[in-house]
Amino acid sequence: MPEALLQHFRQQRSGREYRQEPVAREHLAGLLAAAALAPSGLNARVVRAHVYTDPAALSAIREATLVFYRMLLRILHVPGTLALLHLTGQTHEQLQLLRAELAELVSDGEDRLFYDAPALLVFTLPRRHPTGEGDAWLASHNAMLYAATIPLATCYNGFLAMAAGKSARVRHALCLPRDERVVAAFTAGYPRLTYRRCPPRPPIPTTWR
Ligand SMILES: Cc1cc2nc3c(=O)[nH]c(=O)nc-3n(C[C@H](O)[C@H](O)[C@H](O)COP(=O)(O)O)c2cc1C
Repeated sequence: MPEALLQHFRQQRSGREYRQEPVAREHLAGLLAAAALAPSGLNARVVRAHVYTDPAALSAIREATLVFYRMLLRILHVPGTLALLHLTGQTHEQLQLLRAELAELVSDGEDRLFYDAPALLVFTLPRRHPTGEGDAWLASHNAMLYAATIPLATCYNGFLAMAAGKSARVRHALCLPRDERVVAAFTAGYPRLTYRRCPPRPPIPTTWR
């Protein structure tokens, strides 16, 4: 059993190639059941989940998110902006990389935000609950680890989570109550690919005292 669990972790990959078919409700419900089993600070259990499978809703969320990133990209191209952001501690290379990633994200053609995923799961917290970030991450990661057993391919979506924190348009597209903030989000769908090899993941630098 210990080795089986480690092997499950080793094989856990971000999946961005989805079959174009709806995810069965019972499978999504299974993910939420796994999320509900995660621990939470003070056992407060304040995490909420939102599941999006309606193609029109997914498309509206995607569009709103891309509007946000197109705007951010325009700002990053204003002369002097990179130098200013450099003062906040980001290296020039990091900022150039961000600019290149955003340019690719908003470019026409393929869906580089959701990869045409048939489902999106978003985990939120009440705005006035300052300490629950870990709760939301643990819940979403329980769901993600469980998803791989179905198997469903999943991929965290930091782009959406960040945009939801900054853009009222994105929150509106997500139909979120005003008092909720997004912590974690991931796309899900039945996989088109299976990964045979596990990527190298070096050990975490550790101190022992
Ligand atoms: C917090 C977090 C946010 C992420 N956001 C995105 C994202 O917005 N888009 C994306 O394609 N992948 C995203 N990923 C997936 C990472 O790119 C991926 O985990 C990493 O490349 C390693 O690949 P692997 O998960 O297959 O081992 C995110 C991962 C994490 C942990």
